[in-house]
Amino acid sequence: SMPRQFFVGGNFKMNPVTQEQKRTLVKVLNEATIDPAVEVVIAPPALYIFPLKDILRKDIKVAAQNCYFKLSGAFTGEISPSQLVDAEIPYVILGHSERRTLFHESSDLVAQKTRAALDAGLSIILCVGETLEEREAGKTAEIVESQLKPVVGVLKEADWRFVPAEYGFSDSFTKYHVPPCSKIVIAYEPVWAIGTGKVATSAQAQQAHADIRSFLSTAVSAAVAENTRIIYGGSVNAGNCKELGNQKDVDGFLVGGASLKPEFVDIINAKK
Ligand code: G3P
Repeated sequence: SMPRQFFVGGNFKMNPVTQEQKRTLVKVLNEATIDPAVEVVIAPPALYIFPLKDILRKDIKVAAQNCYFKLSGAFTGEISPSQLVDAEIPYVILGHSERRTLFHESSDLVAQKTRAALDAGLSIILCVGETLEEREAGKTAEIVESQLKPVVGVLKEADWRFVPAEYGFSDSFTKYHVPPCSKIVIAYEPVWAIGTGKVATSAQAQQAHADIRSFLSTAVSAAVAENTRIIYGGSVNAGNCKELGNQKDVDGFLVGGASLKPEFVDIINAKK
């Protein structure tokens, strides 16, 4: 089977605040030497998607941090998956723990959004992860599975697949993805590691990723388990990315705080 392409995402969250900070970030990325083997995607706030895309180097993709499941209509404050496709945005982050916690998004809603985003032609960075209390109760795998199950429930095996060009993808998809590639990247982000400086040990990350892969194998198929990128998020920085990135089932990172700093380049190049 094909090796999984290393994937590094930068989730800017509700940063930066000024146009000036935004330009500085882009300058660092544009001038950096980036490992061409890595798929790099940054997710700025919605307001900055267009201006940022205009000045960003073309080998870095831009993602949205969220979208709704309806395509248009009276949904004040929301962004539709078809609007993202029309704006030539290839990826959307769904199910981030901040959306689940602060904005009460259930796993069923996340599944509904995933279905709608795939139908529109987007690829998904799907976030899952347990709280500290859940980990300490030995429930990590159970919680992560409960977050994935509704998504598995609304997808067909082919929705996940590592799909060759001849499979008959929509134009909106093949425009941004050089097949083979998978449409869903799973980001394992333990809640206790997000923004805390308390990174998961490489053994903890490897175990959680292996559990997710084995769940996919049972719940979907062996091929999907083998081909789906599972990336780690939660206090990743230039110092810890190499060891994490060397774990067998860690296929990249979703980076928050450090994606706003020049060290993001070192994280992108973790495998070099
Ligand atoms: O989505 C990435 C994120 O939640 C991790 O944030 O700041 O811990 O890297 P951070």
